[in-house]
Amino acid sequence: MNILLGIKGTVYITRKMPEPGPSMLARKYSVTMNANPMSPSRKEILRNVVDKNAIFCSLNERIDREVMEKAGPKLKVISTLSTGYDHIDIKEAKKRGIYVAFTGDVLSEATADLTFALILAISRKVVLADKYIRHKKWKVGWSPDLFLGSNVYCKTLGLIGAGRIGRAVARRAKGFNMNILYHNRHRLEMKLEYEMGARYAELDTILRESDFLSIHANLNRESRNIINESKLRRMKNTSYLINTSRGQVIDERSLIKALKYKWIAGAALDVFESEPLRTNSPLIRMENVVLLPHIGSATYQVRSKMSEIAAHNIIEILEGRKTPLMVN
Ligand code: DGY
Repeated sequence: MNILLGIKGTVYITRKMPEPGPSMLARKYSVTMNANPMSPSRKEILRNVVDKNAIFCSLNERIDREVMEKAGPKLKVISTLSTGYDHIDIKEAKKRGIYVAFTGDVLSEATADLTFALILAISRKVVLADKYIRHKKWKVGWSPDLFLGSNVYCKTLGLIGAGRIGRAVARRAKGFNMNILYHNRHRLEMKLEYEMGARYAELDTILRESDFLSIHANLNRESRNIINESKLRRMKNTSYLINTSRGQVIDERSLIKALKYKWIAGAALDVFESEPLRTNSPLIRMENVVLLPHIGSATYQVRSKMSEIAAHNIIEILEGRKTPLMVN
């Protein structure tokens, strides 16, 4: 209990989080915050959750039955600093009457920006060309065939997933005059399709026709490994695969094969099956890939808003109100 303020409540913040969330919570509750920017060990999590009313976590911490059990019956809310919540056992939380809250759509535009950065970086060899200068390899001035890439303008963009992020990517693609196809669990209303400037297509059509295939699906049973060997073999050998959603939507082994044997031209990835990416991953040695360390939402503005929302979710729920960002 925060005796000075006379307010009850205990919150465990699993790692150093951006402001203003931690301060918002510290003003009201007794907060245990791990000051380390790294995710805590499993042991630490299990030790710190005991008797807490709320957990403020990130997508790196697996919040499962064991954690909820350890926390005990006082746990009312698990609030994650993320839009994805595949790291939380929602069914188990529901069973125990624990609310799970997430940060909603706040990161859609920033993630769409980064998706476009990846589309441009992979097709125009931006990263390789930058390294070329830094490694002092630029000896002749302009050359007619130096770092030739592929057009983005007027090419076909295939979107797997047409939620907020997919639609925000489509809006950007319109500016590049791209032919936009999308595949989604449910076909969108005509009004949304019109706004996106996109046509609904079967997955097979998207695989066959896309020059850029970008994934914007939540991770769930249906989307896990949605891109596997047989799907990669159906893509054009001039096409690029972009992923800013979750690594597990792609079977990474098959992707490595596809890149090695040039079934596709390249891949630009912000997310991986296992993060951080293993330092011995063959992807690191490949030239036809661009690799980023899961930074889709990494802008000052978005991360601070995410922190505010995650803290607000906790406050609302502990004070007996609902928030629109509850999963269950
Ligand atoms: C999320 O929020 O789910 C992103 O992957 C990280 O911000």
